[in-house]
Amino acid sequence: ARTGTLAIRGRLLSFDADPAVEAEPHAVMFLEDGIVVVKDGVIVEIGEGPALARRLPPGVPLVDHRPHLVMAGFIDPHLHMPQTQVIASYGTELMAWLSKYTFPEELRYGDSGVAEEASRFLFDTLAANGTTTAAVYCTSHQISAEAFFHEADRRGLRMIAGKVMMDRGAPQGLLDTAESGYEQTKELAAAWHGRGRLEVAITPRFAPTSSEAQLEATGALAAEFPGLPIQTHLSENHGEIAFVADAFPWSKDYTDVYEHYGLVRPRALFGHCIHLSDRERTALASKGASAIFCPTSNLFLGSGLYDLAASRRLGLTTGIATDIGGGTSYSMLTTAAEGYKVLALKGQKWPAFEAFHMMTAGNAAAVGIADKVGRLAVGLEADLVVLDSRASEPMRRRMARVETLAEELFALMVLGDDRATVATYAMGRKIYDRYHAGHATLA
Ligand code: GUN
Ligand code: ZN
Repeated sequence: ARTGTLAIRGRLLSFDADPAVEAEPHAVMFLEDGIVVVKDGVIVEIGEGPALARRLPPGVPLVDHRPHLVMAGFIDPHLHMPQTQVIASYGTELMAWLSKYTFPEELRYGDSGVAEEASRFLFDTLAANGTTTAAVYCTSHQISAEAFFHEADRRGLRMIAGKVMMDRGAPQGLLDTAESGYEQTKELAAAWHGRGRLEVAITPRFAPTSSEAQLEATGALAAEFPGLPIQTHLSENHGEIAFVADAFPWSKDYTDVYEHYGLVRPRALFGHCIHLSDRERTALASKGASAIFCPTSNLFLGSGLYDLAASRRLGLTTGIATDIGGGTSYSMLTTAAEGYKVLALKGQKWPAFEAFHMMTAGNAAAVGIADKVGRLAVGLEADLVVLDSRASEPMRRRMARVETLAEELFALMVLGDDRATVATYAMGRKIYDRYHAGHATLA
């Protein structure tokens, strides 16, 4: 992904700290007219537009996106590549949804052509929504992960994914074994982890679909590869929690199962975390793991309401994700808007600065890639999204009454979706352009 030198001008917005923790002037970096200079895919300079424009060497292309916002690309820390045709399936809660819709669909991904086509669709759609990095579940088929990594690599994207490990509680064609899950994940890591911008995640689906032998093998793998991300599901649904209590009668609680096998650590991403006790939150926090809030999924499957205040009180890092296809939108804007509503039902407030921080720098920190992406900062990779706060008639009408940046961002998040994406860049290379959408892919 070599692009030479390029300058991008716009209304620059980035977060140097969490606005929930630090005062706004320290947390929020905003330049009404700013320029980001990108060299070989990396941000090398950021400054005031007029001054920097005068200093740019002749011949450096300058893309002027004013009056649009330029931010770090969104990071989606939990979604399922094989569920793009499960999204919006009617009428079930988690365990029935898995067996009625999800497992039958995931069986199709033993065919590499199916996984290739779905990966292409997914990357096109993420780019159209301004999402430049995701942590992704493939299926239990090794080739589903290989297809995903091939396509991500071809596009030069920073992506994290894993082959799902599950050895019980699903149709035979989706089951691996303790040994094959271990071996295949190891092979995948050898082939893809650290290649280009890719990382392999250790991906046991969740405790209900792994035997104790598989969780033990997973723990051994985690110990052998201490730097690898881990992703799984935790405490999403009451039926699921009861199943785990029954299947692991020795456990204190659901989190204890993962702790027991050494799966709670930095870069371990626990999807949902809705019904946790304070003991569990404290255990996750003290071991440096992250909780991933998936509001559209939690509402759609009737799973429950995430408690952000409780996580914060106990020091548990939270990221926010779409959870396609339990989730119902690819847009991180829409996801954040639903997150706001979930928190409203909990009597909690979530200002726009905190939401935009979480979608970018916060998610990067939750995933353990804050030294690579998530902010507009010198030395970070130039994965960017350009957003139009006036992308639709209802948005334009609302913006006429907006007076502050915080109000603008809040309305953008509540009313916006993929229509607000003007352009998306990966390592300074344009991977989506609103004016060319629907034509040949730019990837
Ligand atoms: N728990 C285990 N697998 C899944 C899945 O595919 N989606 C959701 N939402 N929860 C899960
Ligand atoms: Zn999930």
